[in-house]
Amino acid sequence: MLKPVFKNLKLENPLIMAPMCGYTDRIYRKILRKHGAALCHTEMVSSASLVRGKDKGSKIMLLDNDEHPVAVQLFGSLPEEMSQAAKMVEQAGADCISINFGCPVPKVIKSNSGAALLKNPDKIFAITAAVVKNTGLPVIPKIRLGWDNNSINVIEVAERIQDAGASALVVHARTRSQGYSGEADWRQIALVKNFLKIPVIGNGDLFDPIQIYEKMQRSGVDAVMLGRGALGNPWIFSRSLCYLESGRLLPKPSTDEIIILLKKHLNQAFEWKGLPGLREMRKHCMYYCKGLPQAAALRAQINQCDKMEDLDFVFDQYLKSLKAQTVFAEIRS
Ligand SMILES: Cc1cc2nc3c(=O)[nH]c(=O)nc-3n(C[C@H](O)[C@H](O)[C@H](O)COP(=O)(O)O)c2cc1C
Repeated sequence: MLKPVFKNLKLENPLIMAPMCGYTDRIYRKILRKHGAALCHTEMVSSASLVRGKDKGSKIMLLDNDEHPVAVQLFGSLPEEMSQAAKMVEQAGADCISINFGCPVPKVIKSNSGAALLKNPDKIFAITAAVVKNTGLPVIPKIRLGWDNNSINVIEVAERIQDAGASALVVHARTRSQGYSGEADWRQIALVKNFLKIPVIGNGDLFDPIQIYEKMQRSGVDAVMLGRGALGNPWIFSRSLCYLESGRLLPKPSTDEIIILLKKHLNQAFEWKGLPGLREMRKHCMYYCKGLPQAAALRAQINQCDKMEDLDFVFDQYLKSLKAQTVFAEIRS
């Protein structure tokens, strides 16, 4: 089993959870860690909001004692401001700093941050070097292949990031103009791995344990980062770990297991954030319910609930009705 080392941070295994806005808050990070993720990322936080003391920034940086190791992800366009923010991240107790050079969202691009910086490798170098200089933590920038298909510059950007002193590099194998569509091009990740001396973490379209094993073997990466494949599906970490260790493919979780974890997740969200927390959970619920029997009807019912008791009732009724259907089918057969 690979145990990647990023500067002074040694991971237990090579499976990392991506930063995901709206999803990787501290509750879900802890769930993912319990299921085997070796390192989780916060949602991205703007260096400007941290340095100016805005609430949103400090809220994202709330880390729990029992979730380490955890990486905080920064985005911004000013080297000096990013380096100040890096110090704040270190003081908040993070184990690692990610820098976002890949976000395609128009608001982020307009502020010359995220993927906009792929057009400016000098600026990427300056930001990475400034962050590395002002922190003792490992710094792990995250990039895409380039701005669009006509301007793929992943090798050049990767080299500048290595020269700036980064401890590892995450490559999401899509261009900015692809957004999240099309296929991630893992051949490009293999090229970067071949070229760099620092560890390379591959990201893009990892949805099952066998595919994760194969992508790791073929590209030679030091670790992989999972995104959408781990939403509503923390078991992808435990199942992939088992497969990497023993070649044994564990079964997918049962409907009961999924509902039990979803209820726990909802309870924790409610305890932390109250009613708004339950509403925020609707997008998580959509992922947990994917592939369950009568998922559409279940999701519609969940979306109408504004109280924990109502949700408990919906889940109890759902499980009872599935059991009744099974018994009925057995009697008939
Ligand atoms: C809803 C959503 C939110 C995301 N938020 C972030 C983010 O805050 N920072 C970041 O670097 N990437 C973000 N990403 C990109 C993911 O980290 C990841 O690179 C991308 O989803 C590709 O991996 P996947 O194919 O395994 O999903 C986000 C992606 C999605 C779908």
